[in-house]
Amino acid sequence: MKIYSAIQPTGAIHLGNYAGAIMNWVKMQDEGECIYSIANYHSLTANKDPHTLPQRTFEAALDLLACGLDPQKCTLYVQSHIPEVTELTWILSCCAPIGELNRMTQFKDKSARMEVVNAGLFTYPILMASDILLFKAEVVPVGEDQLQHLEVARVFARRFNALFGETFPEPQSRLTKATRVMALNDPTKKMSKSVEGSAIMLSDPDNVIKKHVKRAVTDCGATPDGQMSPGVANMFTLLSVFSTPETVAHFQEQYQAGTLRYGELKEALSNDLVAAIAPIRERRAELAQKPDYVKEVLIESARKLRVTAKATLAEVREKTGLGVTPEA
Ligand code: TRP
Repeated sequence: MKIYSAIQPTGAIHLGNYAGAIMNWVKMQDEGECIYSIANYHSLTANKDPHTLPQRTFEAALDLLACGLDPQKCTLYVQSHIPEVTELTWILSCCAPIGELNRMTQFKDKSARMEVVNAGLFTYPILMASDILLFKAEVVPVGEDQLQHLEVARVFARRFNALFGETFPEPQSRLTKATRVMALNDPTKKMSKSVEGSAIMLSDPDNVIKKHVKRAVTDCGATPDGQMSPGVANMFTLLSVFSTPETVAHFQEQYQAGTLRYGELKEALSNDLVAAIAPIRERRAELAQKPDYVKEVLIESARKLRVTAKATLAEVREKTGLGVTPEA
């Protein structure tokens, strides 16, 4: 089974990214051939700072390796190291009705907040489909927000196959178990590193992690009868990911009985979070001392994947009638 996923290099990764996606990436390394990408072409649709992009890309690689992506078990690469994906994007874009792209909720949301909307933001799902199809991936672990884009990739695969002959497998989504980690200081919003007090970063020292948990909002005023308040629900979400089932059951029972003390729950949670994050932080610090090693991992991946990418493109060029590329 060929597995593919990608993350944009927006800088250091927080607990929400880790629990929502990366933990799953790590697990899937044992389920099939995994290809993971740092989607820097995609990130140009938003942040266009050439001074920070290399650093953001490097930091993403550090985080992912520190979280447990193992270069022996998966292939982690930088999207722009395989420029063939942009050629496939062009070809697929010619088979993509704009009406389909116009329906994308992410595009509607993002473009509504922008003064000037760049075409890349509009064709973003085509690039994403090309990422997946270039390597003929079969399974794509994504969060809920990317499901619609993945549906587009499936449509593209079907359409290309119908027009030019069987070429691409239809990629299946694998919805990450809905671990939506909310902001600690405002549990009605998603955890975000750009909001002060919202996120725990994987580079945070133990005392900072503990302080964040201690201050986490649990009581949000009145909630409808029998419904857990969002802050408490968020604590239970984190508990379900980072603590043992026994611990979760223990606090659930107390909650049901109305005897739960938030201080105790937070104490247990912060100990388990520290236990999970400390080794990641330490590995991250070690890797940061070996930038050449990290870069070599990425380059080695690109060398390997480019062979596949070129083979797919050769097939696509032949099937579409574009023909072979003469050697330079
Ligand atoms: N668009 C995805 C995101 O922002 C990242 C991404 C790019 C991706 N290419 C992909 C995800 C291919 C899955 C498959 O989260």
